[in-house]
Amino acid sequence: MMTNHANTLTTVVSYPERGVGGSNKYRGNCSPKLISDLIAHFGFHEVCDYMCGSNTTGDAAASLGVSSHTYDLHSGFDLLHCNIPERPQFIFWHPPYWDIIKYSDVMYRAADVQQRYGYDPRQFDLSRIPTWEKFVKAMNYCMMKQFCVLEKGGRMAVLVGDIKKKGKLLSMLFELVKPGTLENVIIKTQHNCVSDRTAYSGKFIPIVHEYLLLVRKDIPLQYPMLITKQIEGDIRDMRGTTWKDILADAMESFQSAVHLEQIYDQVGQYDRARKQQFWKDKVRQTLLVYPNIFTSPQRGMWMLKKYA
Ligand SMILES: C[S@@+](CC[C@H](N)C(=O)[O-])C[C@H]1O[C@@H](n2cnc3c(N)ncnc32)[C@H](O)[C@@H]1O
Repeated sequence: MMTNHANTLTTVVSYPERGVGGSNKYRGNCSPKLISDLIAHFGFHEVCDYMCGSNTTGDAAASLGVSSHTYDLHSGFDLLHCNIPERPQFIFWHPPYWDIIKYSDVMYRAADVQQRYGYDPRQFDLSRIPTWEKFVKAMNYCMMKQFCVLEKGGRMAVLVGDIKKKGKLLSMLFELVKPGTLENVIIKTQHNCVSDRTAYSGKFIPIVHEYLLLVRKDIPLQYPMLITKQIEGDIRDMRGTTWKDILADAMESFQSAVHLEQIYDQVGQYDRARKQQFWKDKVRQTLLVYPNIFTSPQRGMWMLKKYA
């Protein structure tokens, strides 16, 4: 794997040696080299980070003589509720990967924050949001809040990861709202993670990369936005599906042969049938045309061949 050096940004980056800046003891920290490469590549003169953790961004900026404004929940700034005082040219944002690593009261004491800044950080901590759906909402609120404060031509680099829970991929990149001009997605290979020491079994494919999304604010006031929307689809009402697939899906719930009428009941109320006058003929014809998928053990009775 190629290792990156300053000002050699490509769409795959790898920093096996973390570099100096921030703290490798702060869980979920990132390499200061990534931030230095971004600053050098784009020639930023100022950097902001509103979830700076161990202040990797501040240290990377300082090492290049670039000024920075860095904040975190642990030091009196809650991005969900506090105003952003700057109008940044560049924001580096590295949010928690939902609850994979909890921050408040793990990486820092909630009681200390309460005493110094007058709030309990656990109530605003993105890593303590109880459900994925609520986390995505908060993440997207933070994304838009930061994008809005950018100056014209300003950029955001957002470092996000994928999460796998109970066999399901929860992808921050896919569900993140993308305002403005999409400039790049950079794959960053991961090194020295706690999960590297875990032996996985079964069909689990270990995740060994993160994404860095780059967006630019070319047009202030009005800008395009890419939003992921989750809907529940029904194949029987979907465009582009064939009778073969509708029937096969409908018959998955029957483990034994059923009468044709039962199959009609499963598909008759849907768009595909309503639009076709002779849909029952079409159903029978389809069952006959695919003997590799459908079988009829007795007259008028049908089932999926794999259950026969
Ligand atoms: C992935 S860490 C950042 C790590 C950092 N890039 C580094 O190298 O150390 C995410 C940070 O977000 C902070 N955070 C979580 N919710 C926040 C909120 N509502 N406002 C501000 N910071 C928050 C956490 O305290 C944590 O430090």
